[in-house]
This record gives sequence, C-alpha cells and structure tokens, in this order.
Amino acid sequence: MTLRSRRSCLAVPGSNPRFLEKAKGLDADQVFLDLEDAVAPLSKPGARQNVVAALTEGGWGDKIRVVRINDWTTQWTYRDVIEVVEGAGPELDCLMLPKVQTADQVVALDLLLTQVELATGLKRGRIGIEAQIENALGLINVDAIATASPRVETIIFGPADFMASINMKSLVVGEQPPGHDVGDAYHYILMRILMAARAHDLQAIDGPYLQIRDGDGFRRVAGRSAALGLDGKWVLHPDQVAIANEVYSPRQEDYEHAENILDAYAHFTSEAGGAKGSVMLGDQMIDEASRKMALVVAAKGRAAGMERGDRWSPPGD
Ligand code: GLV
Ligand code: MG
Repeated sequence: MTLRSRRSCLAVPGSNPRFLEKAKGLDADQVFLDLEDAVAPLSKPGARQNVVAALTEGGWGDKIRVVRINDWTTQWTYRDVIEVVEGAGPELDCLMLPKVQTADQVVALDLLLTQVELATGLKRGRIGIEAQIENALGLINVDAIATASPRVETIIFGPADFMASINMKSLVVGEQPPGHDVGDAYHYILMRILMAARAHDLQAIDGPYLQIRDGDGFRRVAGRSAALGLDGKWVLHPDQVAIANEVYSPRQEDYEHAENILDAYAHFTSEAGGAKGSVMLGDQMIDEASRKMALVVAAKGRAAGMERGDRWSPPGD
C-alpha cells in the first residue's frame, strides 16, 4: 500500500507572492495555491500568473503541489484550468475543485484537463482532482463524485461554506455551534466523507480551522477527525503545520507496535512459525483483522517517514 502523506495541506493565497515564496520553506505535506475564496475577484487574473510563476520557479521539495481553481458556477473556472495547466502543467500534481455538487462537475473538469494535456503534450490523466464537499447537495452526491473520474484522489470537507449551506447557527468554523451540547455537530459529515473515501480508495481531508492563534483549539479539532481516520487537515498558518503533522501521524508507540504485529503475524502464520491463525503478542491476541489494522497504522507511519525502535523477533531467535 503506498500512501502519499497529506497530513498538513497548506492554503496559500495566489494573490500574495510573499506568502507563495514563504510557503516553499514550510514543512507541509501538501500546498495548495488558491485562486478561489482567498483571492478577490479583481485579483484573480493576476493570481493565475503568480501561481504559474511560483510553480515553474520550483523550490517546493517533495510537497504535493495543488492549485485550487474556482467552482463551475463562476466565470473563472475554464480560464483557471487553461492558464494554470498550460503554464505549469508538469509542476502540478492536482487541481482542487471547490463546491462540488454533482458528479458531472468532476467529469467536466476531467474532460477539460484531458484537452489541455493532449494539446500541450502532457501525460494524459496524470494530474489528479481533489473534490471539496461544501454543501448539502455535494454531500448527498459524494459517492458519485468520488467515482466520477479516476483522477479523483481526495475528498475534502469545506466547513465554512458547508456551515453556511446548511444554515448552521454559528460563525466560528470548526467549533461546535452554540446550543449544540451533545456530540459533535460535524460527526455525520466527516463520517459520510470518510465512508465515500474509504469505499473508493481515496484520501479524506478535514478543512480549515480559522482561529489561527489558538493552537490548542486546532489540536483538539484536528484530533477528532484524525481519531475517526481522516488523513489530514488544512493548515492556514505556519504554526498549524507541525501540529497537523503530529496529530495525523500515528503515535510513535502505535507505529512500532503495528510493525511488530505485522512481523509477528507473518512469522506465526508461516510454516516455520506453526501456521497458526491467531496468536498472542504479549498480552494481546492477534489475528488477520489485527494485521489489517496494523497495516493501516504502519502505512501511515511509513508515509510520514517514521522509524522503528526495538523490533519484535521470533521466540528462540
Ligand atoms: C473551505 O473552503 C471552507 O469553506 O471551509
Ligand atoms: Mg469553501
């Protein structure tokens, strides 16, 4: 299983060359250069040029490079795609499509991308699509959106637009709406997105937390979606990067334990280990389902570059 880590997805306004330059040096797994809501309408044409320049100049290390274009209900989408992909296609990993409501909006982007790829000699189908779910209709259609194109890599929760779309009584993105004193108001949405992502082998990404000075608040909110199994979260400020990288990585002891489960299970199910189906590892009984859980944690740890400490070895070794 190969997983490209997307623990921290850094939002950078395309209209701000200083932020674009600074983003190169931050330790985020992914950057997305924004042409949508962080850019004023009058600045959009200039932002396209900034984004193309920032991508072609390079210096992004091994970050996943994404550009968020405008959604299909606007006048900007087609030009965003054409200018960015013609100008910087080889330096681009994915386009992020915001406010996706129906599968055909993903199909439309796939078709346009294919045309630009063919016209410019780019490898057909290499540039991926990240689909942002930001309203009720998008959530209802999330399975069809997830499978609308083989280019789709991630499903992203857009909490701010979503809160507006469902008339949630709150202005604080990511925090519980006042008066909601049981459970988590976002649980259903996050779980629905996660189910669609897992059913179709995509990554599920949590959206922004706008109280950028509140590191504890960011950790708390990120911790909830990480606990469910989401793969990462948007970060809006350099201080949020390290927290996201930590919260969406397995804990060191869980990573080591997962690798040990895999080694022990491989040994005990083999001829030399007695071809057993379930065995004890320390105080814990492990079986095939334990192996599957361990595979997930180990894959996330490996993708995050974690290292093992003491290794399990077969009895008698
Ligand atoms: C992000 O785009 C959001 O609406 O939260
Ligand atoms: Mg939004």
